[in-house]
Amino acid sequence: MHSSVRRLVIGAFTLSTLPAFAQLQGGKIESSNKPHPVASIQDKETAAQRDARMAWWREARFGMFIHWGLYAVPAGEWHGERTSHIGEWIMNDLSIPVTDYKQFANNFNPTGFSAHDIVAIAKSAGMKYIVITAKHHDGFAMFDSKVDPFNIVAATPFKRDPLRELAEECHKAGLRLGFYYSQAQDWTAPGGTAIPRAGHNKETGHWDKQQDGSFDEYLKTKALPQVKELLTNYGGVPDILWYDTPTDKMTPERAAEFVSVMNQYPKLIWNNRLGGGYKGDTETPEQYIPPQGFPGRDWESCMTINDTWGYKSFDTNFKSSETLLRNLIDIASKGGNYLLNVGPDANGKIPAPEIERLQAMGKWLSTNGESIYGAQATLFGPEAGAFAPASGNAKPKFVPTWEWRSTTKANRIYIHLFAWPKGSFHLEKLPRTIGKAYLLGDPSHKALKFTQKGQTLDVTLPSAPLDPIATVLVLESKK
Ligand code: GLC
Repeated sequence: MHSSVRRLVIGAFTLSTLPAFAQLQGGKIESSNKPHPVASIQDKETAAQRDARMAWWREARFGMFIHWGLYAVPAGEWHGERTSHIGEWIMNDLSIPVTDYKQFANNFNPTGFSAHDIVAIAKSAGMKYIVITAKHHDGFAMFDSKVDPFNIVAATPFKRDPLRELAEECHKAGLRLGFYYSQAQDWTAPGGTAIPRAGHNKETGHWDKQQDGSFDEYLKTKALPQVKELLTNYGGVPDILWYDTPTDKMTPERAAEFVSVMNQYPKLIWNNRLGGGYKGDTETPEQYIPPQGFPGRDWESCMTINDTWGYKSFDTNFKSSETLLRNLIDIASKGGNYLLNVGPDANGKIPAPEIERLQAMGKWLSTNGESIYGAQATLFGPEAGAFAPASGNAKPKFVPTWEWRSTTKANRIYIHLFAWPKGSFHLEKLPRTIGKAYLLGDPSHKALKFTQKGQTLDVTLPSAPLDPIATVLVLESKK
């Protein structure tokens, strides 16, 4: 077997066995009901306080994930070997020694980076927030860190702080900004953890002596101080801290140290990947849409546009705008957010095919955004699909159907029609009395004929859809 293929297979096996990755598989990240060593904001606040804290995030529905770091330099290839796994894992997947990896910094000069342009792209895509990798598993900080010199300001010819520039531009444009931080895995700092894979030390996951050291020392001298830097140096930002891959080393006591720091920022939103039994604010299904959402929890599906998070020059497997838009609508109809990833290259530019797709989404949202932003989950449900009968011990598989989806506001029901019904649209179990039906994409909002008998509704539609991907039918409640 080709070595990179073998690594991926082994990698996938290793990943699926670790609780940190549970949400990759559709499972839930373990969290205990034991009292936490330090109570977090979520442990203490009332339901009303929580609703107020989460309000902007729930309204937003659509955000941009940015995976950008030193891994954009090798761009998926090192010494003639191409990784078949995600780009930001190249150091681990190809067992690149620390010294060699650090040398990528000498050539990292992304003068094409423009925070202004990236924020403009996010905005025109209809995205309401950005989450960017402040430090990924490779340990390289994409910000001006005084506690560790392996960062974009101190170690590269670029010398600029992209996080500061983004914070300023987001502020001007009215977008929220969050920082991703890999708190446990760090492959270049002594004592940082690494998820073990074949050929690496079984205990530590390390492949280079330089990685050995004390995990507690790493937390004390790098991870915690860097999280503090991120929380204090960016003027009111971040709105979100996005942790990842806690590994089993993140005990309740260790996680509590992060919680103590975060507790000083009562508006902060953070995800369920800190570890140590803390649930955080948001579930983070990765690369999938939970068939029925996460009832009672806020959640955000994070997904790639192609097959990698961090830039890989040869990954051109871009999803279509149609798929991406349907994902957004599907997610909104289940009450979640869509965090869609882009991977800027070593020059700091988002690849053109990614921008094209985002613009198509933004165009649709500029007409139909009302049906997404601030909208609640469907009042129906069966339109999303159904579970196929389970065979043997296998988990029942959800089979989605793609005729329509629905979202809800106080006085309006939105029906996103993917497949255009012939003549009329039929609905059952409608819990509201309708006063007017019209198409959101019709500027005059011309009333469509409809008949409602008890809980069934039939709306007469024009012969052709207004939008080939999704035309939105609005059902307004009777006043
Ligand atoms: C995984 C990967 C990581 C990526 C993240 C995004 O946990 O380890 O590379 O950043 O997913 O959700």
